[in-house]
This record gives sequence, C-alpha cells and structure tokens, in this order.
Amino acid sequence: MNELQTKISQVGCVPVIKLTNPLRDAAPLSDALCAGGVPIAEITFRAAGADDAMRIMLERHPEMLVGAGTVLTTEQVDRTIAAGGCFVVTPGMDPEIVKYCQEKGITCFPGCTTPSDYHIAYKLGLEVLKFFPAEQSGGLAKIKAMAAPFPMFKVMPTGGVNLKNLGEYSASPIIAACGGSYMCPDKLISEGKWDEITDLCRKSVEIVREARNG
Ligand code: 3PG
Repeated sequence: MNELQTKISQVGCVPVIKLTNPLRDAAPLSDALCAGGVPIAEITFRAAGADDAMRIMLERHPEMLVGAGTVLTTEQVDRTIAAGGCFVVTPGMDPEIVKYCQEKGITCFPGCTTPSDYHIAYKLGLEVLKFFPAEQSGGLAKIKAMAAPFPMFKVMPTGGVNLKNLGEYSASPIIAACGGSYMCPDKLISEGKWDEITDLCRKSVEIVREARNG
C-alpha cells in the first residue's frame, strides 16, 4: 500500500459524499468529519461542483484526504487533480482511467467484484481495489472467496455498508477500509445536522477499532 492507502486504512472508513450545494455545505461538512475522527472525503461527481467541494474542504483542512468518487472520465480526473484531490474512485474497472491516473500520479481505486476485474487490476499493478457494490455482490463471503486466487489485493467494500455490518467487514484482514454514504446522509446534510454526522463518524471509527482489536 502507498502512503495514502496506508493513511486511509488506518482510519478504516471512507465517507461517500454527494453535495448538491457545495458552497454552503462543504466547509461545515469537513469540520464535522474531522471532529468525528474521519478526515477523509470521497466527493462524488454525481452532483455538479464536486471539484468546488474538494477545493473548499482542502482550503479549510489541508490535512484532509479528499478525493473524487463516481469518476467516469479522464476529464473528471483532471478536475480532481486541479482541485487538489489525492485519489480517484471509479464505480467499475476502466483500464483507461486507471492508466491515466497512474500517468498523472494520483491513486485510483477502481470498482472490482469479479475474477475478470481482478485479473485486469493485477495486470495494472494495483494493490487496493474498491469492491462495489459490496453487499449486493456477495459481501464478505465473496470478498474472501476472491482472496483465495488473488491474495495480493486489499479491498474497500462500498455499497450497503452501514453501522450494522461495518464491524464484520473491518475484522477481516482483506479489508483496507469500508466506504459508505451512511456517514453523510443527504437528509443530515440538507438540514445542516453536522453534529449527527460527527457522531456517525465517531461511532464508525470506534466500530473499526473494536473489530480490528478482535
Ligand atoms: C458509492 O458510490 O460508492 C456507493 O453508492 C455508496 O454506496 P452506499 O450508498 O450504499 O453506501
């Protein structure tokens, strides 16, 4: 794992965020995440202005690990880099985007769930993959089955992860970190309930810590 992947793995959870009003919400949300012990944000390109959100968060908390999610084009990779983002997450395995990220020196976590995806990831020299959509693709049982032929990968399960199953995933040594939108639900963001987001982050960090300590 590179330095960034190691830092993400130490925290153990990655909030997947959609911000429809980044100018209003990005700053207080970054405060809430940091206060909860999760100085990480995957800002998805599902809403316009993802790069504005990344910029605002990094201005306020330069120590944060801020990256982009739902990246579908190399143009979005360029926008992520221009905003200061340090990682790119793609829903599926797109070798063109992975290679582009490698050329540009930005870490990419492509979504992989099948042996064929893992074959491609192996050829591309990747070490950490997003496993998406995790629950819908077979969850931890499938992650473990995939690790038999592919023990070289760590994964970030995302999709259907929440406070109830976070501990089960986190206890496995195959898991680098878990991603999820559950830490930053749309409703809490639109209502500005930042303390509740901080609380969800704190609980997540605690669950990861307990699960890893057995
Ligand atoms: C993603 O883009 O990574 C997922 O939509 C997150 O899935 P979740 O909403 O089930 O956490």
